[in-house]
Amino acid sequence: MQIGFATPSIGGTGALIVGATEGGGLTATASAVDKATDGALARAQGVTRFAGKSGQVVELLAPAGLKASRILLVGLGKPQEFDTRAAERLAASIVGRLLTSGETEIMFAVDAPKGAKLKGDVLAAHLALGAKLRSYTFNDYRTKKREEHEPTLTKVTVGTADAAGARRRWASLEALAEGSFVARNLVNEPPNVLSPQEFANRAKALAKLGVKVEVLGEAQMKKLGMGALLGVGQGSDRESQLVVMQWNGARGKKDEPVAFVGKGVCFDSGGLSLKTGAGMMGMKGDMGGAAAVVGTMHALAQRKARVNAVGVVGLVENMPDGKAQRPDDVVKSMSGQTIEVLNTDAEGRLVLADALWYTQTRFKPKFVIDLATLTGAISVALGHENAGLFSNDDKLAERIFEAGADEGETVWRLPLGDAYDKVLKSKIADMKNISGGTQAGSIVAAQFLQRFIDKTPWAHLDIAGVAWQDGEQRALAPGWATGWGVRVLNRLVADHYEK
Ligand code: BES
Ligand code: MN
Ligand code: ZN
Repeated sequence: MQIGFATPSIGGTGALIVGATEGGGLTATASAVDKATDGALARAQGVTRFAGKSGQVVELLAPAGLKASRILLVGLGKPQEFDTRAAERLAASIVGRLLTSGETEIMFAVDAPKGAKLKGDVLAAHLALGAKLRSYTFNDYRTKKREEHEPTLTKVTVGTADAAGARRRWASLEALAEGSFVARNLVNEPPNVLSPQEFANRAKALAKLGVKVEVLGEAQMKKLGMGALLGVGQGSDRESQLVVMQWNGARGKKDEPVAFVGKGVCFDSGGLSLKTGAGMMGMKGDMGGAAAVVGTMHALAQRKARVNAVGVVGLVENMPDGKAQRPDDVVKSMSGQTIEVLNTDAEGRLVLADALWYTQTRFKPKFVIDLATLTGAISVALGHENAGLFSNDDKLAERIFEAGADEGETVWRLPLGDAYDKVLKSKIADMKNISGGTQAGSIVAAQFLQRFIDKTPWAHLDIAGVAWQDGEQRALAPGWATGWGVRVLNRLVADHYEK
């Protein structure tokens, strides 16, 4: 789908989108459309309950007086509440409605309502972002009934008096959207296709954007002493991988990097502590943290962010086998600490233990943020609305919270503390990988990770509840994978770490 900006026009052939506010009635362009159609918009409004509220739409097909195939009058809500997120949701709902409808073109002729804080170029760029994010499809594996799923919409034009300004803003937002698509594609991909090596190959594609990509195999990780990560992949026929991505966009090349670490369990069967059939479904998405890290690196590099950023993802497949790790095994992590593995299904923390240690010791980052589909318990606590945030640094936590609120990828902070840590005491090793109880599972997992943090400001995002969706869809993320994490990390960097 092609997205462009131009002076708004009501004379085109495709779908024409105009707005009305709650209380204020038709905007100027909508009034012009009403006139050109001899009052059809007003009449249509009169036979519906349309009141300009956000989310409301009136659709007129084949209107007389204009060449447009259809007119959609959309509610903008209260002008003072019409912000970038509202603009994104509006464009997304229109694209969602028309994407596979037979319509081929859209012109957004949505005026900024009087009293809205949004400037024209900002409004236009965020309409484009909402349109783009909602246009995502994943049809690679369909051979039948493709026409039901294939978009007919090929072109979206956002009308704005400041097309040049909108285009400038759009360049960065388009990078963000494409980074989100990279993450969604990785999460949607089935696990027979997306092995750790295949994931690494896809990460290598970032090289074309100027990202330095290194891939470590099992032999190299063994030399580094990554016994925790390697133990998880031990039962799989597929080789575990560690991918290291570096984007050096800061003016001062020596500037310490920001670092992102992702859990990349390409499939989580639970290992010998095998999951149930129902519990295993969807576990192709257990690399959602790693996908968000790759997507973020993509976005930062594509928009040439003035930051030094490192992304590290630990890629494994957790499988039962004669060679698989056993419950009761003791492994030695790169940090030197030993771990009694009492449940092979608590594998994400083992992967992250080594990936986090490697990242801190090699790069001495300003901060490290890990993203992981770590615990089922996080959706018991927070549902699918917020990711769980854990941190040893109030300032970093605050910044992530704000970035999430601004981007619609919201997070909620949960506590850490010694009382939660002591349940990790092992009878024979430095720690065990589970508490044994069922309480505060997400916090205990975070406590485990914190044992592999060496004074670096750190935040852990448990995204098990938000990385994919089965039921109700997020407005801007159609389908299964959401790409959660790319927006919040990109925003965090943009707001605080670019020079
Ligand atoms: N990948 C799962 C967590 C998960 C569960 C993500 C459901 C998304 C949906 C993780 O590896 C896991 O199995 N965690 C266990 C931990 C337990 C054994 C301490 C869990 O949540 O049950
Ligand atoms: Mn597991
Ligand atoms: Zn897992």
